[in-house]
Amino acid sequence: MTASIEAFFHSPTSTLSYVVYDMAGGHCAVIDSALDFDLSSGVVSTEFADEIIAYIRRNQLSLDWVLETHAHADHLTAASYIKSKLGGKIGVGQHVEDVQAYFAPVFAMGGTNQTAGALRHQYFDHYFQDKEEFSIGMLTVTVVETPGHTSDSVTYLVNQNAFIGDTLFMPDFGSARCDFPGGDAKQLFGSIQRIYALPDSTRLWVCHDYQPGGRELEYQTTVGESKLNNIHITGETSENEFVQFRSERDKQLNVPKLLYPAIQVNIRAGVLPEAFIKIPISKTF
Ligand SMILES: [Fe+2]
Repeated sequence: MTASIEAFFHSPTSTLSYVVYDMAGGHCAVIDSALDFDLSSGVVSTEFADEIIAYIRRNQLSLDWVLETHAHADHLTAASYIKSKLGGKIGVGQHVEDVQAYFAPVFAMGGTNQTAGALRHQYFDHYFQDKEEFSIGMLTVTVVETPGHTSDSVTYLVNQNAFIGDTLFMPDFGSARCDFPGGDAKQLFGSIQRIYALPDSTRLWVCHDYQPGGRELEYQTTVGESKLNNIHITGETSENEFVQFRSERDKQLNVPKLLYPAIQVNIRAGVLPEAFIKIPISKTF
C-alpha cells in the first residue's frame, strides 16, 4: 500500500512535521511535531500543533503513533500535547535514554536523584530498536538507527519513504551538526551510508529546511539525488573527508537558540516543566 504524506512547515524553527497515513478514514502517525514557544516571554502555545490535529480530524484519521526522529535541540516537540488530544503512542529511538542520562543531571530534573530510567518510563510509550517493525494501519514501518547528529536518531522507513530526521538535509544544505553531547561525525557518516544503501529512488523527507539563499521551501529529495549533489556528502565522499569537514564546520556553529528549553522538554516527550525552564550557566571569570 502507498503511504499518503502531508507536510507541515513550522517557520519559526524551520521544522517539517509529517502526517503519514494509509488512507482517508484510516490510520496515521505524526512525525516530529512542534510547539510554538516564545523564548523572551516564556509563552508556549499550540497554533502549529492544532493545524496538524485539525488535518487529522478533517481526514477522519485515527492516530496510532506520535513519533520522534530524535531529541531535538531547536524546537519543542508537541508529542504529548497531540497525544492528549488524539491518543496514540509516543515512540522514539531506544537511545533517547543516553540523551536523558546526559541531560537529566544538567537540569537537575526532579531533583538530582531522578534517573534517566525514571524519565524514560514516565514519558515515552515505546522505544524502538534497530530494524524493529511496526504498523500504521495497513502500512509497515521499519526503524533504522541513524545516530551521529544525536545518539538516539532514527529513520522511519515506510515503503519507499524515509523520514530521516536531521541526518541529511536538502542537497543544497548538506548534513546536520554532530557536536551535541552524544553526537559523532564518524557515526553520522556510517548512518548516511545506511541511507545511501537504500534504492536510489527512495524518497527522503527532511526534518528542517533553512531555505538557503532565500529559495522556496523544499523538504523531499531522493537517495539518488543526495548521492549526486549533497554539498557535504555525496556517494563518493570518504569517511575521513566527511569527518574532517564536519568537525571543522561544527566548531564555527553557535549554540541553537532554543537548545536548553528544547532538550528539557523533549527528553520528557514534550511534557512541560511545572513553571520554569532552566538555563545552566558557565562562568568565564
Ligand atoms: Fe536535530
